[in-house]
Amino acid sequence: MRVVTLLIKHSMTNKQREILVTSALPYANGSIHLGHMLEHIQSDIWVRYHKLRQRKCTFVCADDTHGTPVMLRAQQMGIAPEEMIERTRQEHQQDFIDFLIEYDNYYSTHSKESQFYTHQFYNKLNADGHISRRTISQLFDPEKEMFLPDRFVKGDCPKCGAPDQYGDNCDVCGATYSPTDLKNPRSVVSGATPIMKDSEHLFFELPHFESMLTDWLNDGHVQDEVANKLHEWLKDGLKAWDISRDKPYFGIEIPGQPGKYFYVWLDAPIGYIASFKNLCDRRDDLDFDHYWKADSTTELYHFIGKDITYFHCLFWPATLTGAGFRTPTAVNAHGFLTVNGTKMSKSKGTFVNARTYLNHMKPEYLRYYLAAKLSARLEDFDLNLEDFVQRVNSDLVGKLVNIASRTSGFIAKRFDNSLSEELHHIALLEQIQAAKDKIADHYEQREYSKAIREIMLLTDQANQYIAEQMPWSLVKNPETALQAHQVCSTALNAFRLLVIYLKPVLPELAQKTEHFLNVAPFTWTDIDNLLKEHGINTFKPMMQRLEVAQIERMIEDSIPTSETTPVKPVVEATAAKPKAEKQSMKSPTEAATNETTIEPIAEMINIEDFAKIDLRIAKIVKAEHVESANKLLRLELDIGLGTRQVFAGIKSAYSPEQLEGKLTVMVANLQPRKMRFGESQGMVLAAGPGGDDLYILNPDQGATPGMRVK
Ligand code: MSP
Ligand code: ZN
Repeated sequence: MRVVTLLIKHSMTNKQREILVTSALPYANGSIHLGHMLEHIQSDIWVRYHKLRQRKCTFVCADDTHGTPVMLRAQQMGIAPEEMIERTRQEHQQDFIDFLIEYDNYYSTHSKESQFYTHQFYNKLNADGHISRRTISQLFDPEKEMFLPDRFVKGDCPKCGAPDQYGDNCDVCGATYSPTDLKNPRSVVSGATPIMKDSEHLFFELPHFESMLTDWLNDGHVQDEVANKLHEWLKDGLKAWDISRDKPYFGIEIPGQPGKYFYVWLDAPIGYIASFKNLCDRRDDLDFDHYWKADSTTELYHFIGKDITYFHCLFWPATLTGAGFRTPTAVNAHGFLTVNGTKMSKSKGTFVNARTYLNHMKPEYLRYYLAAKLSARLEDFDLNLEDFVQRVNSDLVGKLVNIASRTSGFIAKRFDNSLSEELHHIALLEQIQAAKDKIADHYEQREYSKAIREIMLLTDQANQYIAEQMPWSLVKNPETALQAHQVCSTALNAFRLLVIYLKPVLPELAQKTEHFLNVAPFTWTDIDNLLKEHGINTFKPMMQRLEVAQIERMIEDSIPTSETTPVKPVVEATAAKPKAEKQSMKSPTEAATNETTIEPIAEMINIEDFAKIDLRIAKIVKAEHVESANKLLRLELDIGLGTRQVFAGIKSAYSPEQLEGKLTVMVANLQPRKMRFGESQGMVLAAGPGGDDLYILNPDQGATPGMRVK
C-alpha cells in the first residue's frame, strides 16, 4: 500500500506533505446540482482538513468545455461556444464559492495551457508508437454534415422493435447494440436519416500499458471495490481507445491533422494539469515540475464519481505514464447522490441545482449532513430531506451551538466577558483533546461519518456536563459564583475544541467562533491548548434552525414550471447524462460522456392531434409578482373573448413591466389548475431551457388578441 507507506514516511521524516487535490471537471453545458456538490464538498473537507493541519495542500478544478453537446448547445442558444462556456464557468465558480468550496484555481479546459499539454501528451505518445490509425465507418447526418455519436441517433430497437430508442441500448428490453443496427434510424439533431460514412480515426494503444496498469492497480492507489472491477476489465482485455473526432467539433485540433479534434475525454483530465499550471504561473511557491515530473515526491489525489473510474484509473494513468508524467497517488471514487431514496428527479423537484439550494438555505447545513453520512466507500448517498432537517437541527443547533449559547450569557453579564483563571473539569477537556488522532485519522481516510460520530459523542458529553452543573443555579449564589464562572469557561473551551474539529466541515461557523472567542484562525495544533483568563466577545447567534418550509420551497422551485411550455431544447441544459445515472462503474463504451445529453424531437403526431390544441394570440394586459413564489408571475391575458389569469414561471427572465402590453401565444383550452395563489387558466408559450434563459413567443405585427394560431 503506497498511500500508507507514504504516510509513515512523512511522519518519520517529518517532511512537509505537499498535496494536490482535484474534483472531476463539471461539464460546461449544464448547471451544478447537488450531485456535483457531494463531490466538491467531499474533496473540500479533505483539503480543508489538510490546510488546518498546516500542510501544503493545493486544490484545483475547471470546467470541462469540449465536445459535441457543448457545441450543439451553443448553436441552439445562438451564441459562440466560447461565450457560452465562459458564462457557465463563471456561474459554476460562483456556485462553488457560495458553497464554501475553496479552490485555489477554477479554470477551463478551453485554455492555452490545456492545448499546450494536450499537444505535448499526443506528440510524445505518437513519437513512442502508442498512437495508431484506422478507418472506421460511422453514422453521419447528411443534413448537419456531422458524424453522430451513439446518443445522437434514435430509432426502433433491432431486438424488440420498441420505438424511440438510443443508438447504444434499448430501454425497453435492455438489449445493447451498435447504432448501425437500429431500425428506422434518425438523427436527433436534424431528424434526417443518417448514412454510413468512412473516416480515419486515431487510437491510443491502451493495451501497451497493460502491465503498467496491473502493477499500478495492485499498488493501493484505488479502493478495493474499484480495483476488483478494473481487474475484471483487464482480464477481458484492453482495447485501443478512439481519441479523435471529425469536424464540426468544439475541442482541441490534432496537430498536423486539419479537421480532426481530440475526443473530449482525452483533454479533460489534462485540464487538471492545465489548471495547476495556470495557478503556478501566479504563485511563486508552486513549482510545476516538482508536482508533475515522473518521480515526483508530492501527492496527487483525484476525487471522482464512480461512473468515471475507467477514465481515471485506466486511460489516465496510462496516458500520464506514456507522456512521461507522474501517476495519481490515489483516485478516490464516491457513489451517487439520491434524494429520498431515489434518483434525483426533475418532476419530483428533487433534481436540485446548487443555486436553488443556496436561494433557500445556508451551505453549511448540506456540508454537515454530507459529512455526517459520508464514508470512503462507493455506496450511493441518500439525502433524506426529513432526516436532513432533523439531523442539522438536532446536532448543530440543539447540541453544538447550544453549548455556547447556554453558557456565554453568564460570561458576558456576570464575568465581564472574560474566561476564568482556572477551569473546572479538566478531565472533560482532556477527553476531547485525546480524540485528536482518531478524528484526524478518520478525516485522512475520508471516513467523515466516523469523525462526526466521534465529535458528536463528545458534544453530548459537554452538554451533559453543563446540565449536571447547572451554571444557571450556581450563578445565583455568591458562594458558587466562582464555580459557575469556571463551569461556563470549561464549557466554552469544550465548544472551542469541538469547533476546531469541525472546521473542515463548517468553515463559516469556525470563523464566527474565532471571532466570538477573540482568537486567531484555528489550526490543528490549537487543540493542545486551552483558553484561560481570556477576554472574549459577546456571543451572537451562529446558526438558525432549519425549517421544513425552506425545504418545501426549494423543492417547489426545482419543479419545472408547467405554467409555461418551454419549446424543448435539442440539448438539455441541466441533465448532464441521464443514461449514465444508472450510476455504476462503466467501461467507456457504456460510460458517461457528456455526449448523452440529447432531448430528441418528440414523438410524431398527426394533424388531428395538433388541432386539439387551441392556441390563441393573447395580450398581456397585466403582469405582477406573486408573493412567496420565486419563479412565478401572475399574468392577465386578453384573448378577445375575455381575460384569463395565468401563473407563468418566467420571473427570472422578465420583469412585469417588460411584459405589459406585449402580445404572445397561449394554450387556451388547457384544463384550469388550482395553485396556491389562485387558478391558472392556461399556458403561455416560451422557448429556452429555463431560468433567465427563456423567451416568450411573440406573433408578427398585425395579429390581434383572440386570433387562433394554426
Ligand atoms: N466532465 C466529466 C468529468 C471529467 S474529469 C476529467 C463529467 N462531468 S459531470 O458534470 O457529468 O460530472 C462531474 C462529476 O460529478 C463526476 O465525478 C460525476 O460522477 C459527479 N456526479 C454527477 N452526478 C452525480 C450524482 N448524482 N451524485 C454524485 N456525483 C455525481 O463526468
Ligand atoms: Zn428492445
